[in-house]
Amino acid sequence: MLNIICGGMYSGKSTELLRRYQRNKYAKRKALLFNHSLDKRYGESVVSTHLQDQEKAYSISKIDEMISILNENNEIKNIYIDEFQFFQEEFSQLVISLVEKKGYSVTVAGLDLTSDNKSFKSIEKLMPYADEILKLKAVCCKCGKNANKSYRLIPSKKEIEVGASDSYIALCRECFNKMHKD
Ligand code: ADP
Ligand code: TMP
Ligand code: MG
Ligand code: ZN
Repeated sequence: MLNIICGGMYSGKSTELLRRYQRNKYAKRKALLFNHSLDKRYGESVVSTHLQDQEKAYSISKIDEMISILNENNEIKNIYIDEFQFFQEEFSQLVISLVEKKGYSVTVAGLDLTSDNKSFKSIEKLMPYADEILKLKAVCCKCGKNANKSYRLIPSKKEIEVGASDSYIALCRECFNKMHKD
């Protein structure tokens, strides 16, 4: 089973991922939680929401790290991954093979669009294999409508630029297009 939670920044992806992860405790079901090691905004080795609800997580960036954690915990077939947009595309292949061939249930959360309004490839590659895709919306900081875009406030042109309210705001399509015209 593959579940994808996607949307722009502040849309509630990490909140929803943690809600689902935390439910395992009540079901007495073991699960593994991963975050990308680039994400240290609210602490080391955690998945955190912007409101700082947190759970301890494996902090990784390399595929070998993930494979060895899975091997060490080979009885646990239930995994949760945040910030999936930061992981290289080989992680998408690994997730697909875990789900398709190895009986894993995988839930990933991540951005679907960059601040340049381009697709994040690692999430895009997973989409056709998903059993469920949940697209969440933030609130547009300019007009209050639903927001799917993450607008970068700082001049960097890099695809990956870690940050939160210091460097990004949520905007709807119309307000995003207006900002890009100015
Ligand atoms: P994500 O992982 O999608 O960035 P989180 O789950 O970490 O989102 O955080 C969602 C929380 O962010 C909301 O519950 C809300 O308190 C806060 N928030 C800050 N800015 C906004 C916004 N523009 N729209 C909606 N929620 C916002
Ligand atoms: P969030 O979705 O949990 O708020 O986290 C998104 C992270 O992705 C945050 O660290 C900012 C980063 N980011 C990029 O690296 N590039 C982008 O184009 C966007 C929109 C966000
Ligand atoms: Mg998040
Ligand atoms: Zn707007």
